[in-house]
Amino acid sequence: MQVLYDVYARILRRQLAGLPIPRHIAIAMDGNRRWARRTGYDDVRIGHRFGAEHLELFLRWCSEAGVHCVTAWVASADNIRRRDSAEVDYLMQLTETVLAEHVRRDHRWRLHVAGQLDLLPDTTARALKEAVEETRDRTDAGDLTLAIGYSGRLEVVDAVRAVLDEAAAAGRSLEDVADELSEDVIGRHLYLPELPDPDLVIRTSGELRMSDFLLWQATRSEVEFCDLYWPAFRQVDLLRALRTYGRRRLERFS
Ligand code: IPE
Ligand code: MG
Repeated sequence: MQVLYDVYARILRRQLAGLPIPRHIAIAMDGNRRWARRTGYDDVRIGHRFGAEHLELFLRWCSEAGVHCVTAWVASADNIRRRDSAEVDYLMQLTETVLAEHVRRDHRWRLHVAGQLDLLPDTTARALKEAVEETRDRTDAGDLTLAIGYSGRLEVVDAVRAVLDEAAAAGRSLEDVADELSEDVIGRHLYLPELPDPDLVIRTSGELRMSDFLLWQATRSEVEFCDLYWPAFRQVDLLRALRTYGRRRLERFS
C-alpha cells in the first residue's frame, strides 16, 4: 500500500512541474469530531488532538511543495462562543501546547494570529503573542497565520472601525473619510495587511461552505473542497489540490 502511495505521490509531483503554484494556501481544517467518531473514539477531543498534530505534517508538505505562506483555521469566533466549554478549553490547551509550541521549534515559519484574541482565555492569548514575538525575526521563514476566534465579517467591521478611529484621532471629517474610503483603505486595516491574499483555499470534510473564513481576502481565490476529514488528509490530497489549482490557473491566464 505504502509503495503504491509513494508511486502516486511521485507521479503527482512530476505532473506539478511547470504548473503555477499558489503563493498562499488557506486551509479550513474541518471534520475532527466526525473523524474521531468514525475511527471509534467516543471522546471527540481525540479528533482535535490528531487534528492539531496533523497541521505539523501539512506545513511540512507545504514547505516541500514550495508554498511558504499558509493560513490555518483553528477555530472560528462562533466555534468559541457556541461549543461547550470543555471542548473549547481543550482546543485552547492544544493551541498552547501543540500549535504555539510547534511554531517555536520549527524555524521554517514566522507566526501571525488573526482573530478576536479577547475571546480566548488569557493563557492562550499570551502563548500566541509570545510565539509571534519569538518568531518575528525569522527573516528567511515562511508566514504561518493561525486564524483563531476568527470571523471574516468581524475582520471587515474591525477594519472599518480602525479607519474611523484613525480619522477621529486626526480630527478629520466624516465626509473626508467617506470620500477616501476604498478597497485599498479597508485592505490596509485588516488584521494582516502585509500578507498576500490566499490563491487557494482548501476545506476538508466535504462541507461546501466558506463559513465566514477570509471573507475579504478570498474573493478571487480558487477553492478546493476535499471529502476527507482533516486528520485523514494526506500529502497526495495536497498534491492533487495543487495540480487542480495549477491547471485551472494555467487555463485562466493563458
Ligand atoms: C474542525 O473539526 C475543528 C474546529 C472547528 C474546532 P470539527 O470540530 O468542526 O469537527 P466536525 O466538523 O464536527 O466533524
Ligand atoms: Mg466542523
